[in-house]
Amino acid sequence: MGVLEDKARARLFYKYLSRVYDRVNPVVWTEAMRDEAVAMLDLAADDRVLDVGCGTGFATEGLLEAVETVYGIDQSPHQLAQAYPKFGKRGPARFHLGDAERLPFEDDAFDVVWSSGSIEYWPDPVATLRELRRVARPGGQVLVVGPNEPTGRVRRALANAMMLFYTEAEAERMFAAAGFADVRHRLLGPDYAPTIAIATLARVPEEPVPAGDAAGETDATPAGADD
Ligand SMILES: C[S@@+](CC[C@H](N)C(=O)[O-])C[C@H]1O[C@@H](n2cnc3c(N)ncnc32)[C@H](O)[C@@H]1O
Repeated sequence: MGVLEDKARARLFYKYLSRVYDRVNPVVWTEAMRDEAVAMLDLAADDRVLDVGCGTGFATEGLLEAVETVYGIDQSPHQLAQAYPKFGKRGPARFHLGDAERLPFEDDAFDVVWSSGSIEYWPDPVATLRELRRVARPGGQVLVVGPNEPTGRVRRALANAMMLFYTEAEAERMFAAAGFADVRHRLLGPDYAPTIAIATLARVPEEPVPAGDAAGETDATPAGADD
């Protein structure tokens, strides 16, 4: 498990990174990548949308080009402090301080749940994906963007020592273990590294997932996550 797959450490990390996040972020996560991922979603203007690990609101802003209101949640008050002045506190973005593992929303509250660049910090990604599924309605869409595992043993070892990097096959396993259906992936990246990220789009099954299939604890930790 990587050093930043720990919520307290990730919070501390973002206490400092938040100061420069909006300047550094476009190196690996560009507007073009974000817009390509948003375009994977089937969105209606009045959809209820949640952005998990919204940070400074970079993806929130992209989502707001397609929908009227986006709820954002992040565990870093410092990241959220950067978001507030951009959107105002009572505008189309509704921000909450909170944990992706325990979302403060009712079951089935959203049509669409989005999360970009956050899964790599989650200590238990499958359990947290289940939590995203809980707050999305049956038939709703969940889209997660995370880092593609680098090739080469040394780069892979360094990456995984820091946080979760995964392959499309591992994303498939995580989403299946979390009880999603119709899972598909797209590789994204800037011109200099076109496969740096994986966008995974999945649907919440219309029928409840039988207990024991995906709702309970599984040994579905993605291969490589603990390497
Ligand atoms: C790389 S930033 C991505 C921000 C934004 N989604 C974007 O697309 O630019 C990762 C964000 O995930 C947040 N995060 C990490 N773990 C979290 C958790 N357990 N609950 C809520 N937010 C979390 C961090 O605080 C940080 O703001």
